[in-house]
Amino acid sequence: MISKLVENAINAQIKVEEESSRIYLAMASWLETKGFPGAAAFLYRQTEEERMHLLKFIKYLNDRGGSAQIKELKAPQTKFKSLKEVFEKVLKHEEFVTASINTLYGVTIKAKDYTTSTFLQWFITEQIEEESTMRSIIDKMALLGEDKSGYFLIDKELATLALAPITAV
Ligand code: FEO
Repeated sequence: MISKLVENAINAQIKVEEESSRIYLAMASWLETKGFPGAAAFLYRQTEEERMHLLKFIKYLNDRGGSAQIKELKAPQTKFKSLKEVFEKVLKHEEFVTASINTLYGVTIKAKDYTTSTFLQWFITEQIEEESTMRSIIDKMALLGEDKSGYFLIDKELATLALAPITAV
């Protein structure tokens, strides 16, 4: 049986993951209307990936005798200035998610719930990968400077990244 402390902390993380999914959904939709089909496809994929994260937490918590809570969410930002701004916001959000996972990990250590600490290892590794992917996309955009034609190539590259399978294990 999971402790109330860890249960509450996982429920807080479930909310973060669901919010992430909605934030990327709003971004993907905006990009789709602004002529960036590849970037939109990539963020639609991220939406699915965040949904998979949230399901992973829900199933884990329910399996351990806890009760997953689906909470009210605030509306995400729906308008942006540029493709670059979108990805800067994605990176900033992923850094927030990493900090949130680390806080949750700290709660499990304090509660001596090492089963949950081990479960969280997958998410810790996943966050390193997600932050690194977003950073490399932003780095490429920074190299372009004012060269708008290069954004077409980045959009094409993002369309390829969007085809990567979403893994849950
Ligand atoms: Fe589920 Fe991108 O953090």
